[in-house]
Amino acid sequence: MADNRSSSSGLLFSVVLFLRLFHDANGDVSYSISEEMKAGSVIGNIAKDLGLNVGKLSTRKARIDSELNRKRYCDIKLNTGDLIIAERIDREALCGEKASCILKSELILEAPLESHRIILQIQDINDNSPIFTKDKIRIEINELAVKGSRFRVLEAHDLDIGQNAVQSYELQANSYLELKTQSKLDGDKLAELVLVKELDREEQRELKLMLTALDGGSPKRTGTATVHVIVLDANDNPPVFNQVVYKAVLPENATPNTVVVKVAATDTDEGLNGEVIYEISRISETGKRAFSLNQTSGEIHVIGSLDFEEESVYELRIDAKDRYGLSSDAKVIIELSDVNDNPPEISLKSFVNPIAENVSPGTEVGIINVQDRDSEKNGQVRCSIQQNVPFKLLPSIKNYYSLVTTGQLDRELVSDYNITITATDEGSPPLSSSKTVQLSVADINDNPPVFEEQSYSAYVSENNKPGSTLCSVTARDPDWRQNGTVIYSLLPGEVNGASVSSYLSVNGDTGVIHAVRSFDYEQFRSFKVHMMARDNGSPPLSSNVTVSVFISDVNDNSPQILYPAPEGSSFMTELVPKAAHGGSLVSKVIAVDADSGQNAWLSYQIVKATDPGLFSIDLHSGEIRTQRDISESDSMKQNLIVAVKDNGQPSLSATCAMYLLISDNLAEVPELKDISYDEKNSKLTSYLIIALVSVSTFFLTFIIIILGVRFCRRRKPRLLFDGAVAIPGAYLPPNYADVDGTGTLRSTYNYDAYLTTGSRTSDFKFVSSYNDNTLPADQTLKKSPTEFAEIFCRPDESPEVGKTILCIIFFSYMCLKLLRC
Ligand SMILES: *[C@@H]1O[C@H](CO)[C@@H](O)[C@H](O)[C@H]1NC(C)=O
Ligand SMILES: *[C@@H]1O[C@H](CO)[C@@H](O)[C@H](O)[C@H]1NC(C)=O
Ligand SMILES: *[C@@H]1O[C@H](CO)[C@@H](O)[C@H](O)[C@H]1NC(C)=O
Repeated sequence: MADNRSSSSGLLFSVVLFLRLFHDANGDVSYSISEEMKAGSVIGNIAKDLGLNVGKLSTRKARIDSELNRKRYCDIKLNTGDLIIAERIDREALCGEKASCILKSELILEAPLESHRIILQIQDINDNSPIFTKDKIRIEINELAVKGSRFRVLEAHDLDIGQNAVQSYELQANSYLELKTQSKLDGDKLAELVLVKELDREEQRELKLMLTALDGGSPKRTGTATVHVIVLDANDNPPVFNQVVYKAVLPENATPNTVVVKVAATDTDEGLNGEVIYEISRISETGKRAFSLNQTSGEIHVIGSLDFEEESVYELRIDAKDRYGLSSDAKVIIELSDVNDNPPEISLKSFVNPIAENVSPGTEVGIINVQDRDSEKNGQVRCSIQQNVPFKLLPSIKNYYSLVTTGQLDRELVSDYNITITATDEGSPPLSSSKTVQLSVADINDNPPVFEEQSYSAYVSENNKPGSTLCSVTARDPDWRQNGTVIYSLLPGEVNGASVSSYLSVNGDTGVIHAVRSFDYEQFRSFKVHMMARDNGSPPLSSNVTVSVFISDVNDNSPQILYPAPEGSSFMTELVPKAAHGGSLVSKVIAVDADSGQNAWLSYQIVKATDPGLFSIDLHSGEIRTQRDISESDSMKQNLIVAVKDNGQPSLSATCAMYLLISDNLAEVPELKDISYDEKNSKLTSYLIIALVSVSTFFLTFIIIILGVRFCRRRKPRLLFDGAVAIPGAYLPPNYADVDGTGTLRSTYNYDAYLTTGSRTSDFKFVSSYNDNTLPADQTLKKSPTEFAEIFCRPDESPEVGKTILCIIFFSYMCLKLLRC
């Protein structure tokens, strides 16, 4: 209907015609015009409409007054009477949203003063487009908003009114939102967005949609704005781990703070909804002490000490949670890898200690167990002992070794061994440990005592003091304690028919040999005894040694004059022929000395003579010779005292008297008996003879009885003198040292006294103390019984009866000896 400002005058005319219908009969005139008409455009002919005379208009000074000093929008053309637009009329500026817009003016005429109201009704034309107050309309929609939710959008405004105002909206096509327009009660159009599909922030964070507002003009005008839909996050996503199972392998010696593994979960939500914290939801007690989880970073750290041997696999369950409680979990498996951190352990299971030294090679003496807590190579153990010991290790059943001997042991060489057992595993670097066992070797009595020398010699002068030390023997036995304790003893034997124990004794402990009696060189010069050294083992071992005793001579025997008989015991005289010349042998002194060597080297001297110049004696031979011819004047009886001296130090001597009768005929010497014979004992002598005869008779009877016995018991001919006569040493009190030498030195150790059981070769035996005057056997044999009778039984030499009895006993002995021979 309305035109713009350049609309044709034809149209305008029709409008004026139409407006004339509203002509007011009161002289008011009203016009309806469109806004925005050009200045000068004719609204209507007001003169005509009011019935005024056009010619008089100017004379009557017709003019248009605006109301209330408002701007004059219209004017009158005086020559035509046309009402024209004086100024552009903008309805929106004048009336805004008012539905009717009226401009009031007055036509004033003078002469006569006349006034006519002019009402201009301003019609709207579509000259304004709809306008949104903001170019961008921001709408926030929670992603959880359900379908059908409505969201109001800002309306667009159009200054125009009526049909020219906003009539509809259009929304850019999209799948989430639709536009719904509603008419409000006040008639305004309400645009709402309706959710037709659920939003997902994680899929689409925002939407930008073009919203167009359309008015109802023709042509339609539009206005646009962008609708910015922001999808608000909702916690609709749980955190999600990037792995279902995390696996980590960790050496058991990992230090605290080592990061084992890092778990990570992501939450697609935003903000707090997407902030993930981690928690351990399941862990073993040991695991609790070993690992910790960083809540925010998801790193698992080592916090405690780990031990593969205790626990080698840990299983953890980790929860990831967002701040609003959505969570998920994952499994973490931590496997420890073995590190060679345990040295092998050696345990000694059983040991034979001490080991007898006679065990055969290959004997098992100990069992050893070796263990290593590590696994695989780290737990494989090699075991060894040091070299140069007679032992070796033999692998036995698993982890067991037996220690066996490899050679013969000898306690006397090595009495104990320190066996060091070393166990090494095969880890890298390898660990090892060692243990030392001390093994002792027990003694076996396998060594006999051994004398230090092969034989011993002892030298002793005769007439030694009984009990004097001769020598000592020593034997060594390397065995232990009693197996090595040496006891010395004399082996039984005989020396000259008597038991050795009557000659010597030995200290069982020290081996010192003592003489039991005084020795007589003249009896024997040396003898041998056998000694035994025995240990105290069981059975005992022993060895023997020979001890030779050499007796050296001492000048203890004075020369013994055999011829002439000792002074006073004979009537022996030598006849010297009167015609003997000087130098002729008259007699000879015969002497012997039981000693030997120098001690028996005799020299002769005449110490006293009736006529010193007549006889001389040879210093060495003892031959007596005349020194000169015998003369008539020489006394018939010549006495010589001869001294015989040996050469010992000091020397011993004997003297004898030699009676010489210078005569050619013994009968010429009537007073011979007077020389020495003494009748004073003749009476006693006759008693003695009687006694001798009676004793002899008794003895003969005795011999006959003996003979009888001998014939009866021929098989035991030696009954009488056989048999042991021993000093039973065992009866002596312990530790008794017999000073006289009759016993042996005793000690706390047992001491065996070997005593003779008697001699079968000896005819007679004197068992006597050392100082008994033993009759030298060889001397006995050299002399005839009669000589002895002479020596012992000279009547003038035996004044006492005791001596006679001795003589008788001797006689009996001789008879017996003869019998036995
Ligand atoms: C063995 O060891 C002990 C103590 O350590 C020591 O007294 C002894 O002398 C050693 N023996 C040997 C044969 O090395
Ligand atoms: C001595 O040797 C014997 C075996 O001959 C042995 O049984 C004993 O134990 C040994 N004695 C000591 C003290 O070693
Ligand atoms: C030592 O002598 C005794 C007695 O004659 C004998 O029994 C023993 O076997 C001898 N011992 C040795 C080692 O010759």
